[in-house]
Amino acid sequence: MEIANRHVLVTGASRGIGKAFAKMCAEDKAHLHLVLRKTDPEAVKSLEVAGAKSVTVWEADLSTRQGVEDLLQRLKDTPIDILFNNAGTLTGGLLEEQPLDDIYRMFQVNLNALVHLTHGLLPGMLSRKRGKIINNSSVSAYMHFPCASTYAASKAAVAAFTDCIRMELKDTGVTTLLLITPGIKTRMFDEIETLYSKNFQIPNDSISPSKYAEMIREAILHDLDVMEPSGLTGVGLKVAKFIKPLFEIEVARRFKRS
Ligand SMILES: NC(=O)c1ccc[n+]([C@@H]2O[C@H](COP(=O)([O-])OP(=O)(O)OC[C@H]3O[C@@H](n4cnc5c(N)ncnc54)[C@H](OP(=O)(O)O)[C@@H]3O)[C@@H](O)[C@H]2O)c1
Repeated sequence: MEIANRHVLVTGASRGIGKAFAKMCAEDKAHLHLVLRKTDPEAVKSLEVAGAKSVTVWEADLSTRQGVEDLLQRLKDTPIDILFNNAGTLTGGLLEEQPLDDIYRMFQVNLNALVHLTHGLLPGMLSRKRGKIINNSSVSAYMHFPCASTYAASKAAVAAFTDCIRMELKDTGVTTLLLITPGIKTRMFDEIETLYSKNFQIPNDSISPSKYAEMIREAILHDLDVMEPSGLTGVGLKVAKFIKPLFEIEVARRFKRS
């Protein structure tokens, strides 16, 4: 799908991957719809300068069902072509040490809001016979580490959800793109160290958000269904998927309970 002149909605556009993706879409002359918890006039200005056809901010907190419902209500006459479900939060550490409120909030933002927004915007895409739903999952969906239990569960669910609707949407004009995202140098990437490192030695290779946005751009233009990492992380992902016992030997070497 082309990006130019398309209406692109990005959740989590305030920073990290979402912000870099919005900038890339602006340079490609899209109409941008930013979902932010708080309006940011400077960000809007810089996207207009970068070339966006238009920039609209939709204030929303995705951590409650009501927040998503209100957003969809306000969006109802907006013909979104590309929905980038990107907003996310991280939980981590030994399960019994993860605060339950954080776990509930994380599932709401990472999974429930993503399903809810897709559910709300899909009918319009189907009636226009045009749309793309991009869901930001993670290598954690397949590479299962100790300390990542709840976050990995949310991302595995995102991967399963996307795969199911990919098949449902065949020949409708609406397509999906599943991102199996590796380490990207954002605030969340730095939080991994804080939350995991007491018990688990995490690999620390990463790429920049702008480089990743470029890769997503190529995947959109070529209508890929799934984008997986290459390099060392790509090898790790394949080992985790297809030679699990070998993957677990390496995981065990990096983990200590206390
Ligand atoms: N970075 C990585 O290594 C990595 C790896 C795999 C997958 N991912 C996934 O990539 C996505 C983007 O992550 P990132 O690395 O760019 O992280 P980030 O820099 O921490 O950005 C997270 C974004 O989500 C938004 N967000 C969080 N809670 C929200 C809420 N309740 N309502 C609305 N927006 C909310 C944040 O908005 P505020 O500014 O308002 O907080 C921010 O824009 C996430 O889904 C993440 O799980 C990242």
